Amino acid sequence: MKIGVLTGGGDAPGLNAAIRAVVVKATDCGDQVFGIKDGWAGLLEGRLEPLGLDSVEDIEMEGGTILGTSRTNPYKEEKGEEKVLDNFKSAGLEALVAIGGEDTLGVANKLSKNGLKIVGIPKTIDNDLSETDYCLGFHTAVSRAAAAIEGLHTTARSHHRVLVVEVMGRHAGWITLEAGLAGGAHFILIPEVEFDIEEVADVLKKREEKGKLYSVVAAAEGAKPKEEKELLTQTKEKDAFGHIRLGGIAKALAKEIEKRTGKETRATVLGHTQRAGPPNAFDRVLGIRYGVAAVQLIKEGKFGQMVSLKGTKILSVPLEKAVGRLRTVDRELYQLAKLFFG
Ligand code: F6P
Repeated sequence: MKIGVLTGGGDAPGLNAAIRAVVVKATDCGDQVFGIKDGWAGLLEGRLEPLGLDSVEDIEMEGGTILGTSRTNPYKEEKGEEKVLDNFKSAGLEALVAIGGEDTLGVANKLSKNGLKIVGIPKTIDNDLSETDYCLGFHTAVSRAAAAIEGLHTTARSHHRVLVVEVMGRHAGWITLEAGLAGGAHFILIPEVEFDIEEVADVLKKREEKGKLYSVVAAAEGAKPKEEKELLTQTKEKDAFGHIRLGGIAKALAKEIEKRTGKETRATVLGHTQRAGPPNAFDRVLGIRYGVAAVQLIKEGKFGQMVSLKGTKILSVPLEKAVGRLRTVDRELYQLAKLFFG
């Protein structure tokens, strides 16, 4: 059997571990794997090559994706779906493993309904896919962001400043919330809860009154101010899935905080450092378990499914359910985090 594998959307630590596991498990079953280049772009353009055991040796420890990735949406291309189906057929592929987040797996779900034999692996540092406890890459991104937020305390303290840290997270504040709690942020802003800038300033002023002359604020790039109900971004540019390019909230917030508190305030953007570099042990093992489970699903003929982690068990769920709605931070958890503000 010939199995294709692709990675789509933003890269995330753990992708290579999953790719290697697909190759190892498929080879063990006597099957052959083909790596598709740059996500859906590779299937649109027929760019793929065989992946043997030698080409994936040791890659579970490497960040990024050896296959390359893109945010190409075949449904935005002329005759995109037709091209994908034709190239799949002419390459002699019989099944496809798509590794991605809501956009990549949203496309996988549509293609699956139109006859493509496909299984999904959840990947996004944002951790916002439904029906799984963890998406590949989230755990590493949280560790990186938490270490950065923790580290910023010493410089903020030395200069008696406020530092606003911009953390990735478009619709969901999982990274910001967990990294903010773990890294000791004094205020956390997430997309799920509109923020009041006066409230942020008040909390920071109260710290000052208590003799704490510095603060660190963690803000998700997708957090929205109450009064504007709009994303604070530097550009309104959109990608092929219609998402505005985020970035800019830390700078905007720093200005407002400085105005209201009179404290020197600086912005730090963690950006792509959060998903760069090697995966941590959790994401390596999760990638390996997901990759093996995806090939098992194919062997059982269970297409249109996504592998998922529930508790400690790897299960599978319909792709449709996984991409149907986003898994966001609930108010209860945010209330818990609020206990630690200030
Ligand atoms: O893949 C998710 C994500 O990391 C988001 O958290 C972030 O908003 C976006 O990707 C950044 O996209 P790009 O890599 O295209 O700048």
